[in-house]
Amino acid sequence: MEEKKPRRQGAAVRDGIVQYPHLFIAALALALVLMDPFHLGPLAGIDYRPVKHELAPYREVMQRWPRDNGSRLRLGRLEFVNEVFGPESIEFDRQGRGPYAGLADGRVVRWMGDKAGWETFAVMNPDWSEKVCANGVESTTKKQHGKEKWCGRPLGLRFHRETGELFIADAYYGLMAVGERGGVATSLAREAGGDPVHFANDLDIHMNGSIFFTDTSTRYSRK
Ligand SMILES: *[C@@H]1O[C@H](CO)[C@@H](O)[C@H](O)[C@H]1NC(C)=O
Ligand SMILES: *[C@@H]1O[C@H](CO)[C@@H](O)[C@H](O)[C@H]1NC(C)=O
Repeated sequence: MEEKKPRRQGAAVRDGIVQYPHLFIAALALALVLMDPFHLGPLAGIDYRPVKHELAPYREVMQRWPRDNGSRLRLGRLEFVNEVFGPESIEFDRQGRGPYAGLADGRVVRWMGDKAGWETFAVMNPDWSEKVCANGVESTTKKQHGKEKWCGRPLGLRFHRETGELFIADAYYGLMAVGERGGVATSLAREAGGDPVHFANDLDIHMNGSIFFTDTSTRYSRK
């Protein structure tokens, strides 16, 4: 068995080269791309172990799920249209104020009622400037791409229920925190386990005090 195999392959390769050289080259190119021997692909060097999960059949599960068969959400009110741009996470503080939201222009803002409106609560960069960063709806387009790293992009927000501090997962600045009264956030973690945080995304605070945050990529930043 072991001896037959290489001979068969050799014959196939010889015939292939003679009869279909283009096919052979195409197959070789495909094999190189799939096997990536020079580690050039995006998954190179990553210990990639797919896991298969058995999911319950869709129909079986769906029948047990509660349904909004009256489409009650349709009766909800649409708020803050064209007032804030690119909000990701939203939170309310211990006193019930808010919502707070992280915007595409790098600010964390909060709604302070009809009279005061939206108020800037926190920024990641002490030099954050309205002129550079606050570009309204444009801040959600690619025009902001070059500035985001500097302006910040707060994606995850969570208040600490005991201290009242706001913890922020900023795509570029990593894990940040700011006091109850807001201001410039301070950095808590830009690396984890010796590796830089490339793309902090969301967080939550366990009741035992541990803070968990996600890093969307071990390789790429948001940009
Ligand atoms: C919607 O759901 C309720 C509660 O499960 C049920 O009593 C009602 O018959 C449903 N209505 C329709 C139109 O399916
Ligand atoms: C808090 O609980 C989480 C989840 O069980 C655990 O991973 C973490 O180590 C705990 N932290 C402390 C400080 O006990």
